[in-house]
Amino acid sequence: MENGAAQPVIVAIDGPSGTGKSSTSKAVAAQLGLSYLDTGAQYRAITWWMVTNGIDTDDPSEIAAAAGKPDIVSGTDPANPTITVDGTDVAAPIRTQEVTSKVSAVSAVAEVRARITELQRSIAASAEGGIVVEGRDIGTTVLPDADLKIFLTASPEARAARRSGELKGADVNATREALIKRDAADSSRKTSPLAKADDAVEVDTTALTLAQVIECVVTLVEEKRAAK
Ligand code: DC
Repeated sequence: MENGAAQPVIVAIDGPSGTGKSSTSKAVAAQLGLSYLDTGAQYRAITWWMVTNGIDTDDPSEIAAAAGKPDIVSGTDPANPTITVDGTDVAAPIRTQEVTSKVSAVSAVAEVRARITELQRSIAASAEGGIVVEGRDIGTTVLPDADLKIFLTASPEARAARRSGELKGADVNATREALIKRDAADSSRKTSPLAKADDAVEVDTTALTLAQVIECVVTLVEEKRAAK
């Protein structure tokens, strides 16, 4: 249609850690004037709350019983994405090693996923101009009717190298082992595991620069918007 650029569009970007999901999703949203939602940050936020409130994260029934308690609010401006829990800014503490090591166990609990999925759907529904939502199960479970689904992949070596760069020189081998362990847990859980939707476009980012990945996704979104 004419002036297709104004059409609201819902974009789901899934994939394992270190594939460039966050950087790509934020840049694509900013470039196209869309909102942006980091769903991993929401799972990290609920994990941070559990740890801070003395919940035993090895006990799924304790996690399930507490899943409804924290109030998690995500700001969706791609230039300044924010996350608060009960009014506290948790952008920094959700990135600690402690939270990272526990987030797979917390996010595997069905009650946690139900709560966070509901939150994600309501944020996507209220994003008037459209939204880029990044995560692990967005195309398969959270927004199965998304206009465009992208599944980003990269070799374990490339993913570990990127992640250890982000972590300012962390050991690449240790990062690689931790990534593989977390991806295995995220992919094998019973409730909405990390998976590529049948109708997702797979983009292997191993040999691409971030700028190339962004350009590729922007082109795919523009094509979808033009066709709407
Ligand atoms: O993208 P991230 O590394 O910040 O995500 C943290 C964890 O949250 C990840 O190990 C799995 C979980 N997660 C999930 O289960 N479903 C999502 N949609 C997003 C993240």
